[in-house]
Order: sequence, then structure tokens, then C-alpha cells
Amino acid sequence: MATKILRTVVALLCRGGHYCKGSKGSRPLAGAIESIAPTSLSFPTVRIDIITLFPEICRAPLSESIMKRAQESGVIVLRIHNLRDWTTDKHHVVDDAPFGGGQGMVMKPEPIFAAIESLRRADSITVLMTPQGKRFDQTLADEMSKKKHLIVLCGHYEGIDHRVVEHLADTEVSIGDYVLTNGAIAAVVFVDAVVRLIPGVLGHDRSAVDDSFRSGLLEAPQYTRPAEFRGWKVPEVLLSGNHAQIAAWRKEQALRRTRQNRPDLLK
Ligand SMILES: C[S@@+](CC[C@H](N)C(=O)[O-])C[C@H]1O[C@@H](n2cnc3c(N)ncnc32)[C@H](O)[C@@H]1O
Repeated sequence: MATKILRTVVALLCRGGHYCKGSKGSRPLAGAIESIAPTSLSFPTVRIDIITLFPEICRAPLSESIMKRAQESGVIVLRIHNLRDWTTDKHHVVDDAPFGGGQGMVMKPEPIFAAIESLRRADSITVLMTPQGKRFDQTLADEMSKKKHLIVLCGHYEGIDHRVVEHLADTEVSIGDYVLTNGAIAAVVFVDAVVRLIPGVLGHDRSAVDDSFRSGLLEAPQYTRPAEFRGWKVPEVLLSGNHAQIAAWRKEQALRRTRQNRPDLLK
């Protein structure tokens, strides 16, 4: 009961959970949330802080549907911060020209260190989104879903001063072998994939256990009503009610889909 009340208070404070406007412009109500969501109260809240130059890119996709419910129920507290809030100069400068010359601008270390040092706790993991990072996959998503606090740092321009990589980031994550314009897009992908694996986020009806990659295979094909559409019939076995046969069919189909679309997974 106490947990339920606490979760409701957290959800109300966060107005849907994704962002709380504080007294300092776009600053979150960090103190308020931390003081009422202690892990010692068997409160399984996972906290995620995203630091980006483009909060709006993250806000919409992470405040709908399952992500919205995860925040409203208090399973996660997600806060999206504008890195410029940690600048100290009049023009909120976050970038500068690269030493040694070259194209584009590089993100300065000072506001990034200030941001992360103000958000970091003993159990925090700082994740730098970068095309040079470890390739993100379901196994890594699973590992990250067990953490209590993730700080997700998004780059922009030509990249980030390498002292951030060397002295601040706990891990570097890439969402694939291509280059995006900025890390906020990658952060949305990362956070979505991690959050749906946190216990309590997906309902009993939407378990992640059968998902593609979970067993090393792609998921078997899914069908819904009508049983016949434009002359194309749903496989008979799925209408049979025979659970053993359905399970065997799904296993065989999962193998077939994997062999067809992702033979690399079978190696
Ligand atoms: C234009 S990219 C910089 C790329 C950098 N010049 C390089 O070649 O490694 C700007 C930012 O977008 C993000 N980003 C781009 N592609 C990404 C990917 N595949 N995975 C994760 N983040 C990515 C990173 O945060 C990066 O700092």
C-alpha cells in the first residue's frame, strides 16, 4: 500500500514521468524525486537520466504507450536534461573547434563533466552513445535492464572531447554501424529496448520471453483475426487449440525465419 502511494506521488510529481520543470528553466525536480523514491523502501524504481542537446527528440517517443505507463506506475523515473543547463557562460556554449584542425565542432568536456557529476550516484552507469561503441543487442539490453541508474549521454556535432570517453563513460554503446546526426535518436532506441525488459514494465499479456533474439532466434510468425483474409488462411495448427503442436510449430517456424533472414544468428 505504502509503495503504491509512493509510486502515485512520483508519477504525479513527474506529470507523466518524463520530465519535471524545475525552478531553473529546464532543470528537473531531481531533489524531490530522489527524496521520495529511495530503493531501501523495496521500491523497484529504475532511474534513467538522458543528457542531450535535443530533449524534444527524446521526449515524444519516450512518453507514449508502454514507456508512458512505465513512468506513471513508478517502475522507472525518466528524466531528460538539456546539457546547456550545465554551461556557465552567457551564451550556453557546449562546443568548440577541434585541436589539430578538421571539420566540424567537438563537444566541450566542462558541461558534460558537470552534468554527470551532479547526477551520478554510487550505483550509476554512464552510457555514452557513440558509433564507436559496443554494438547494442538484446543481451546488452538485458544486462542494462538490471541496473538501478543509467545516465545516457548523447553526442552531437563531430563528437565529444575524448577525455569524456576516457574518464567519465562507463561504457560506450553504438546502435549500429552507421552514423546518425546526434545521440538523442540512439538514446531513444537504447532506453526503449532496456526499459521494456525491466520487471513490471510489460504486463503478463506482453511478456518479452518469446521475443526475437531472446532464445537466439527470431520470433515465429504471429496471426490474428480474421482466420481468412483475401483468401490467405492462418496456419491450421494455430486454430487447433493443441498447445504442444502449436509450440512445436512455433519452434520450427522460428528456426525457418532465422535461417531465412538472419543466418548469422545460427552460427
Ligand atoms: C555525427 S555523430 C559523430 C560521429 C563521429 N564523428 C565518428 O565518426 O565517430 C554525432 C553523435 O551522434 C551519436 N551517434 C551517431 N551514430 C551513432 C550510433 N550508430 N550509435 C550511437 N550513437 C550514435 C553519437 O552520440 C555521436 O557523438
